[in-house]
Amino acid sequence: MGLHGVRFRGQPGALSFHYEYAGRACLLKSCRVRATLLQENEEEVVVEKSFAPKSFPGNVGGGSNGEPPDDSSSNGLEKWVIKLEQSVNILLTDSVIKILDTLYHDRNYARFFVLETIARVPYFAFISVLHMYESFGWWRRADYMKVHFAESWNEMHHLLIMEELGGNAWWFDRFLAQHIAIFYYFMTVLMYALSPRMAYHFSECVESHAYETYDKFIKDQGEELKNLPAPKIAVDYYTGGDLYLFDEFQTSREPNTRRPKIDNLYDVFMNIRDDEAEHCKTMKACQTHGSLRSPHTNPCDESEDDTGCPVPQADCIGIVDCIKKSVTDPQVIKR
Ligand SMILES: [Fe+2]
Ligand SMILES: [Fe+2]
Repeated sequence: MGLHGVRFRGQPGALSFHYEYAGRACLLKSCRVRATLLQENEEEVVVEKSFAPKSFPGNVGGGSNGEPPDDSSSNGLEKWVIKLEQSVNILLTDSVIKILDTLYHDRNYARFFVLETIARVPYFAFISVLHMYESFGWWRRADYMKVHFAESWNEMHHLLIMEELGGNAWWFDRFLAQHIAIFYYFMTVLMYALSPRMAYHFSECVESHAYETYDKFIKDQGEELKNLPAPKIAVDYYTGGDLYLFDEFQTSREPNTRRPKIDNLYDVFMNIRDDEAEHCKTMKACQTHGSLRSPHTNPCDESEDDTGCPVPQADCIGIVDCIKKSVTDPQVIKR
């Protein structure tokens, strides 16, 4: 276990950049934030050293001390807005956690089923909004679409595992989870359209809670889990032939650097927990605008679309920002 955390290249000042033409991407490369491995000879993710779940809620989403990122474009008002966004997110997350703690304190698999039903939703919501931006020509970044789909695919397999373990046996649990998911979808779409930074921070809070939940479960019941068989869907997903999407959601790793071994239920929950840690790191990185890169993206091709052709990029931070720029600087959108 040699992974001691992630480090970010360049400066977190991407908010102030305007991507006009992809040909300028070489200039921007050194300024983009991209998680890279410090060491690669690990078998497991060591999340405690790359983010601090126990510091939640005080140290989620901002800099290492819990403060908003010290961006050069930040002014007093922006920092105040970031604080407000994070406070609202933490309040919302804490409220949902209290409800789940009350309803599911002694039914672990049902609790995990509800969590995983909800966990897929934000990635689908992000993709929905990005599709709309694509249609309007405001935001065309293939990496975001690819990574968010891979995250959603990973969460779907967590859900399938919980279903195979019987977490969805009760009608009430299915009813509750699915109705929360519908509400959560529309809430995330609205939040993401208004402020992607806030939506990504909210997701980071949720992922952090998921990590802590599984971590506690493993510590409490690890020995029992080692004597139980792994669900077939887990073996297929983690050790199956095509692991492209498995690599794709882990943006702080190089592809092919994590290949789980699934011998029992303990291994399954260890890997689900580690997946949540990867989601958490990605959601944190996403709060710096324009920073997300697919692990499969060749750095030399960052300025090109899937057809290899340079594409014009409009730098908008949410729908409100795009409308504002289309009015104040229409050339940014037309280019
Ligand atoms: Fe999950
Ligand atoms: Fe997750």
